[in-house]
Amino acid sequence: MISILLLSCENKTSAVVSAKDNDVEKRIEALLKQMTLEEKIGQMYQISSFDNSGKMQELVKKGEIGSVLNLTNPEVINALQQVAMEESRLKIPLIVGRDVIHGFKTIFPIPLGQAASFNPQLVEDGARVAAIEAASCGINWTFAPMIDIARDPRWGRIAESLGEDPYLTSVLGAAMIKGFQSEDLSGRTAIAACPKHFVGYGAAEAGKDYNSTFIPERTLRNVYLPSFETAVRAGAATFMTSFNDNDGVPSSGNKFILDQVLRKEWQFDGFVVSDWESIREMIPHGFCKDEKEAAEKAVNAGVDMEMVSPTYTKYLKELLDEGKVKMATIDNAVRNILRIKFRLGLFENPFVDINSPSVLYAEEHLQKAKQAAIESAVLLKNEKATLPLNEQVKTIAVIGPMADAPHDQMGTWVFDGDKNYTQTPLKALQAAYGDKIRILYAKGTEYSRDKSTAGIPAAVAAARNADVALIFVGEESILSGEAHSLTDLHLQGAQSELIEAVAKTGKPVVTVVMAGRPLTIGRDVEHSQAVLYNFHPGTMGGPAIIDLLFGKAVPSGKLPVTFPKNAGQTPMYYAHNNTGRPYQGNETMLADIPLEAGQTSLGNTSFHLDAGFDPLYPFGYGLSYTTFEYSNLALSAGTLKPTDVLTVTIDITNTGKHDATEIAQLYTQDCFASVTRPVKELKRFERISLKAGEKKTLTFTLPVEELAFYNIDMKKVVEAGNFNLWVGPHSQEGLKASFVVN
Ligand code: BGC
Repeated sequence: MISILLLSCENKTSAVVSAKDNDVEKRIEALLKQMTLEEKIGQMYQISSFDNSGKMQELVKKGEIGSVLNLTNPEVINALQQVAMEESRLKIPLIVGRDVIHGFKTIFPIPLGQAASFNPQLVEDGARVAAIEAASCGINWTFAPMIDIARDPRWGRIAESLGEDPYLTSVLGAAMIKGFQSEDLSGRTAIAACPKHFVGYGAAEAGKDYNSTFIPERTLRNVYLPSFETAVRAGAATFMTSFNDNDGVPSSGNKFILDQVLRKEWQFDGFVVSDWESIREMIPHGFCKDEKEAAEKAVNAGVDMEMVSPTYTKYLKELLDEGKVKMATIDNAVRNILRIKFRLGLFENPFVDINSPSVLYAEEHLQKAKQAAIESAVLLKNEKATLPLNEQVKTIAVIGPMADAPHDQMGTWVFDGDKNYTQTPLKALQAAYGDKIRILYAKGTEYSRDKSTAGIPAAVAAARNADVALIFVGEESILSGEAHSLTDLHLQGAQSELIEAVAKTGKPVVTVVMAGRPLTIGRDVEHSQAVLYNFHPGTMGGPAIIDLLFGKAVPSGKLPVTFPKNAGQTPMYYAHNNTGRPYQGNETMLADIPLEAGQTSLGNTSFHLDAGFDPLYPFGYGLSYTTFEYSNLALSAGTLKPTDVLTVTIDITNTGKHDATEIAQLYTQDCFASVTRPVKELKRFERISLKAGEKKTLTFTLPVEELAFYNIDMKKVVEAGNFNLWVGPHSQEGLKASFVVN
C-alpha cells in the first residue's frame, strides 16, 4: 500500500497586503463609490483601435472604455489619455495593451527559441528590453508571456510557447514576467504582463488552432496549471483566458478555473481579460445561445474585462436588472481592474514623455538580441567537426530561401519590428568576411513554400565552386503562429530537393534552419554534415548565426521540445507515462516484417511500425563544438523525508578543445504511485561554462516537496516510495541514481 504524505503545498501563500496595498484598496473603494453603473461597465471594456478609432475619444470621455489595444503611436495614446484624465468625469486612466511577444522594435528570437537557451536571465533581459521600448511609446500592458504547455508541433502557436515542459515553462515564464514588470510595476519602463492562455489551449486536438481540448483535472493540475500558478507567484498583473473549450467548457465561461483555481486557490488579485472576442465566441462554440447569455456566463465565471466583443457593454445592465448578475460581481471586476491601474502608477503618470531620446533599436538592445539568438541556436549534428568553419575557407556558397529573408527571420507576432533593421545571415557574412572570403550566393528557391526547382542548378553550381555550402532553409514567418497549423512538418516547397541536390556535389553541407516549430528534417539531416537549428531568431539572427558558424560563439542551446520523426508521432513529449507494455528496442519494424507474419510475432509493445518509439531528437538535446563528460553523481542521502532537501552533486568536464557552456539537466521519476507518473520529469537545469579541459562540480538542491503531484484523491502530495534521478545532457541520457522517500 502506498502511504500518503500530505504536504501543505496547496494554498501555501495567502495574499500579503502591504501598507501600500492598503492605500490602493482605499483609493479603489473611494473611486468605486463615485462610479455609475455605466462607468463601471466601461472599465470592463477593451476596445481595439482597429475598428473603432472614430468613436474612441467620445467613449473615453463618457468613461465607457477601460482599455484600448493596438495603439502604438505615443502622440495618439497621449491624446486619448488626455481625454480620460481631463475630460472624463472620474479621470480614470486607460490601460493600453499590445502584443509585445518577443520584442517591440528590436525583435528577439521567438519564445520557443528563447526557451532553448534555458537561461532565465537572458529571457528576463529580453522582456526588459521589450518593455523599455514598448513603454517609450505609451504601451503599458503586454499580452505575454504565453505559458501554454505545447507538445504538438502541428500547432502553429508552439512558436510562441516556451516548449513542452511545465518546469522549464514555469521558470522562464516567471523570468519574462519579471522582465516586463521589473521590480516596480509603477516604474516608467514597467509594463503589466498577461500570462496566457488560461488554460489548456496548447492541447488543441490534432494541433489545430482553437480546437477543443480534453484535459482531465489531474493532468490539468499536474501539467497545464503549474506555469500559471508560478506566474501568479511571480506577481503577474493580469491573466488572459483561452479560446478552447476543455471537456465542453470554454475557458471564458469556466468558473472552475477562473474562480476556484485562480482566485480561491491561488489568491490572484489582478484582473482577467478575455481573449479576442472569446466571450462572443461562446455562441459558435454552442455554449451560449446569444450575446446576452455569453456576457452572463463570462462575468459570473470571473472574466473582468472583455476584449473587443461588446457583450458586457450591451447586456450587463439588463442582466443586473434581471438579477442574473450581481452588483458585487461587477464591483469586484472593477476593483481588480482599478487595482492594476493603480499599481501601474497610471493615475500619477498617465502620459508618455514623447520628447525623451528614442530607445528603439538601441545598440544595447541589439546586442542583447544577438546574445539571445546565439544562446537560442541548437546544434543538432556536426559530423567530422565540420563546424566551426575554418577561417582559411576560401569560397562559400550561400544557398536557400532563408539566407536573406529579413521579414521571415523575425518570426510570428511581429507587429512593430521593422524588417529594415533585420540583419540576415547573408548580410552578416558579407559584412564580417566579405573581404576575405568569396561568397557565391544562389538562393535555389525563392521562398520556403516555393515548389519550383528552376533555381536549383545555379545553387548546385555555386556549391561546386565553393569549399563549403551553407544552406539556409526553414519556414516563412506566416507558417507558424496563431491559426497557422500544419499536418505536414517537412520542409516546405522544394527545400529538401535543394539540399539533396547540393549534397550530391560531395561538398560539405551545413544546413541552417530557421523555423517557428520543430520540423521533421530527418531526411535533410542525412544530407548534411552539420545542422544548426534556429527557431526564428529575430532582428540579430544573422550576426548571431555567423558568429556560431565561425566559432566566435559556441552553440549551447538545447531543445525545449521533442522533435518527432514525422507528424504521425505527435503529440510527442518526453514526460509521458509508461504503458503496461513499454517499447523494448527489439521490435520488428515495417520493412522487416516477413510475409504473412504471425499476429503476435512483432513484439506487442507500444510503438509505431514505421517510426519506432524514439523521436528524431529528444527534449533537452543539443550539441556543442566541444564534448562534456559527466561523472561522480552523488546524492546527499538515499532515504529522505518529504520535508528534507536533497542535494545532488555531479562533476562535469569539458573534454574537448573549445571553451563552452553546457546545460546540465536533472530529471526524476516517481517509480510507482497511486496514479501512473511520467517516466521522467525535469526538476532542475543549470548553465555551466567550462574552459577546454576544465572540470567543475555542480550542486543542485531539490526540496523533496517538489516531487509532489495531484494523486488519486486529487491532493497535492509526495507519496512515499522509490524514485530515480538522472543528471545529464538531455532527457534520454544521464547518470542515474535512486532514492527512497518514506
Ligand atoms: C490571441 C491572443 C492575443 C490577442 C490580442 C488573440 O487572437 O489569441 O494571444 O493576445 O489576440 O491581439
